[in-house]
Amino acid sequence: MTQKFKVLVTRKWPKPVEKVLKDNFDVTLNSEDIPLSEDELINAINNYDALLPTVTDVISDKIISSEGRKAKIIANFGVGFNNIDIESAKKNGVVVTNTPEVLTDCTADIAMLLMLGVSRRCSEGEYHVRKSEWTGWRPTHMMGTKVTSKTIGLIGMGRIAQAVAHKSHFGFNMNIIFYDPYFKNDEIISKYKAQPCNSIEEVLKNSDYVSLHCPSTNETKGLIDYDALSKMKKTAYLINTARGDIVVEEDLVKALEDGIIRGAGLDVYEIEPKVNPSLLKFKNVFLLPHLGSATEETREAMGMRVYDNISSFFQGKEPSDRVV
Ligand code: DGY
Repeated sequence: MTQKFKVLVTRKWPKPVEKVLKDNFDVTLNSEDIPLSEDELINAINNYDALLPTVTDVISDKIISSEGRKAKIIANFGVGFNNIDIESAKKNGVVVTNTPEVLTDCTADIAMLLMLGVSRRCSEGEYHVRKSEWTGWRPTHMMGTKVTSKTIGLIGMGRIAQAVAHKSHFGFNMNIIFYDPYFKNDEIISKYKAQPCNSIEEVLKNSDYVSLHCPSTNETKGLIDYDALSKMKKTAYLINTARGDIVVEEDLVKALEDGIIRGAGLDVYEIEPKVNPSLLKFKNVFLLPHLGSATEETREAMGMRVYDNISSFFQGKEPSDRVV
């Protein structure tokens, strides 16, 4: 009997994915679904052929550079890989993969939901009904802001931003403007009648909704600070489905207190799962717990993508979602 490769899954994964992993590898699953400590991760990288973390597992240089490291591949469950020290992986010759494409639509759906939710005061309204505080229809009751035909400004124009552009343009007749110095696809630009901007400032100044779609890198961390928020229209909303640390949360709180912007819709936070308690006091902030990819279909597809990546790797082939 050929020996199976030893694989460690750091969190609980969708059942069909756990099954296919079990059928093909010597798998250790985390049925407790409790995050592993740094020491446990070091122990894992030293004893398994592959480490399968999620976007919330911090895979530091200390873990990757561990002297007894056995694992040659880190196959992330997630498209973002800012949780992994990529420079360290490069330096140590460790392959890293991610799970692009399969979560594009669901994450874009959550951006739309946040935009609609905060504009139409959805959580406030639902709370109202659940608390039996609703006294009936009246002309001035819980008025929000119209979304249709407004301008959405996308920071970053990757797959998820394009899906948001699609839904906003075709579904809500919105004007699309964007800033992405690396994006040059004229076909997409004309499909959504999108307007490329020369700077982030141009997007901030001209949008009714500023929606973040860039990865968290040294370049983008803290990009949306008080100064950036001050450039937005007073009537505009900030939407974040990308990474929490692109926004300086304290500055966002101050901007909301000062009435610099009208509101925010957030799915991601600076230090998850902690949420700045000051954010909780605002009715004009719509908050979700990092649900972008959280549908059965997508989470299963993400897991299968991880499975494909490690299968290719162990067969000596190039994994299709190799990052480094
Ligand atoms: C990702 O994949 O990067 C998301 O944040 C979680 O789905």
